[in-house]
Amino acid sequence: MKGNILVVDDEKNIREGLKKFLNLDNFSAVLASDGEEALSIFDEQEIDLVITDLKMPNMSGEELLKKILTKSPATPVIILTGHGTVESAVDAMREGAYDFLTKPVNLKKLSIIIKRALENKKLEIENRELHKQLDEKYGFSNIIGNSSQIQKVFDVIQQVAPSNANILITGENGTGKELIANAIHRLSPRNTSPLIKVHCAALSENILESELFGHEKGSFTGAITQKKGRFELANKGTLFLDEIGEISPVVQVKLLRVLQEREFERVGGEKTIKIDVRIIAATNKDLNKEVKNGNFREDLYFRLNVIAIHIPSLKDRKSDIPLLVNSFIKEFSEANAKGPISITPKALSLLESYNWPGNIRELRNVVEGAVVMCRDDVFTEDILPDYIKGSKSDSVINIRSGMSLEEIEKNAIISTLSMTNGNKTQAAKILKIGRKTLHRKLEEYQLDTAD
Ligand SMILES: Nc1ncnc2c1ncn2[C@@H]1O[C@H](COP(=O)(O)OP(=O)(O)OP(=O)(O)O)[C@@H](O)[C@H]1O
Ligand SMILES: [Mg+2]
Repeated sequence: MKGNILVVDDEKNIREGLKKFLNLDNFSAVLASDGEEALSIFDEQEIDLVITDLKMPNMSGEELLKKILTKSPATPVIILTGHGTVESAVDAMREGAYDFLTKPVNLKKLSIIIKRALENKKLEIENRELHKQLDEKYGFSNIIGNSSQIQKVFDVIQQVAPSNANILITGENGTGKELIANAIHRLSPRNTSPLIKVHCAALSENILESELFGHEKGSFTGAITQKKGRFELANKGTLFLDEIGEISPVVQVKLLRVLQEREFERVGGEKTIKIDVRIIAATNKDLNKEVKNGNFREDLYFRLNVIAIHIPSLKDRKSDIPLLVNSFIKEFSEANAKGPISITPKALSLLESYNWPGNIRELRNVVEGAVVMCRDDVFTEDILPDYIKGSKSDSVINIRSGMSLEEIEKNAIISTLSMTNGNKTQAAKILKIGRKTLHRKLEEYQLDTAD
């Protein structure tokens, strides 16, 4: 048998007739005379597809459809409808029915629809499986962090992802805003539709407008063909508007309208296009401040900022650094076909003391460079860039014009020693002089390291 089909109809001869036909077509069929019976069969048996009449006593076919789809969204439901009720069949399609047929049923057509539906269902299940795997790969599991700050962000994501609410993600450069946007889309019911990204800062006002809303042929010089905008491409899915703080007042107005009315026209077009899109916007600016300064529309800000997610800077969650470093080491040692690499405590502690103005992106780049450079599968401090090695105390040495070279040298030695907590070997290494030279200079400048 190719599948088990549940047939629901209050007319006995229709049920039985369909069963006979389905059996001839190598399907097994179970019969129910009303919605209640159908649901209890559905709960007990493995049902691959449902064929139901629309008009039935007690429970309508439409109600049954809804109940079945809540239990099992992937089950195809085919609606049978009498003459003159095609409109309700169309409604049922909107509710998620797979297809509908008018009575008397054209059996050849029914057979084709069933086969197509079962094939689609198989694909859908495979697709879901694939998405589940992708989730494991790109959803949460690739966002690393065990600090309480980032865990809080994860909690919010899990809570808001299933909703339709627009989300505004804020955070400094390289904190992972795009990664979080990806995760939200993947964890949302929209994940079978596309996530479309627009980098608002990279495009001029006119280009951004036609990128977002599309354009009609001939609407401006260069518009040789009609083009769909990103809003249309993102229909039923998610639109990620990166660097939203950069959009011009004109585009702000247009965006506001789409968010309010869920409709727009292509540039140079008359036809109003309706869309169903969830917006995730991101910015490294303080939009609240931009609103106060008159650079960003307040009404648009409120529409975008239904849910606010702030990603803390790496310097404020330094406890994430070891985990991130280890994961990046693993990633890049594999990418560079190296064996397992271990990091020395000193190197790790230098990475932990640096302030990471470029956040996780900077950390990732530094680790990549170090992995490429490291020898004997050990990640030591000397392969780190100088600015990280010298970060232990964020001290700045004071150089004024009119200072002698000796004075400058003396200051450099003092500040380096304070950075290494008086460790002369380390200080000498950072200063790139021998340990003996350092001792000589200390004596020369009458510096007592005990101070
Ligand atoms: N928690 C994390 N775990 C692992 N990798 C991360 C994490 N956060 C960010 N990254 C990595 O850091 C890099 C920067 O992340 P992303 O592009 O998402 O940041 P962003 O906030 O959008 O930056 P920008 O503001 O510069 O666009 C990416 O390579 C991303 O994979
Ligand atoms: Mg980004």
